[in-house]
Amino acid sequence: MTIELKRVEVDSDALRAQVTEKYTEIANEPEKGAHFHTGKSLAMMVGYPEAIIDSLPAGTVESFAGTGNPFSMGELKPGETVLDLGCGAGFDSLIAARQVGASGRVISIDMTPAMLDKARVGASEAGLSNVEFHEVYAESLPVQDKSVDVVISNGVINLCPDKMAVFGEINRVLKPGGRIQLGDMVVHKAVPDDAKADIDLWRD
Ligand SMILES: C[S@@+](CC[C@H](N)C(=O)[O-])C[C@H]1O[C@@H](n2cnc3c(N)ncnc32)[C@H](O)[C@@H]1O
Repeated sequence: MTIELKRVEVDSDALRAQVTEKYTEIANEPEKGAHFHTGKSLAMMVGYPEAIIDSLPAGTVESFAGTGNPFSMGELKPGETVLDLGCGAGFDSLIAARQVGASGRVISIDMTPAMLDKARVGASEAGLSNVEFHEVYAESLPVQDKSVDVVISNGVINLCPDKMAVFGEINRVLKPGGRIQLGDMVVHKAVPDDAKADIDLWRD
């Protein structure tokens, strides 16, 4: 499959502000729900085993907002270094931290502080010390070149207007032979320019 990655003319700062507002609500008031599925019902829908979902802290699960299951492409190996791009409340980060074990490391990044707060609490409740959380943009990662075995991400890249920058960073940080395991949305028809510029359509 060929994916066209074009820079999109949208106000990036305004988009980030609105996306952050939306995901702050999903972190702090998940019971309010969103126009898309969230939480345990979503995780079941996209194929996570119920035993894994139920083994995670309740706060982590209730704010899950992914679009797929990156682990459906394969489990991570003990000792691997993993980057979770747009970790949200940490649902996939905690699963990854368990899979790579104490000899592995999970570097998780997100731009929404409320999500990161929740992710840190979840990691602590789960007793995981091999996962770290950073407040940064996916387009500019505080990660060394060629240092990561696997990049996982779930429902994030569709929210990033500069997809070339994001994939450039993924390419920079991955070790030779490294893997990407993404859950995200792909459109099969060209999106009109006026729709691309409409922030409500990105956020909602
Ligand atoms: C749909 S949620 C998915 C969160 C998490 N991966 C999950 O599966 O629950 C999207 C997340 O991406 C984050 N995000 C969106 N654009 C970002 C960017 N440019 N840089 C960093 N994080 C971003 C949001 O803050 C939000 O937490």
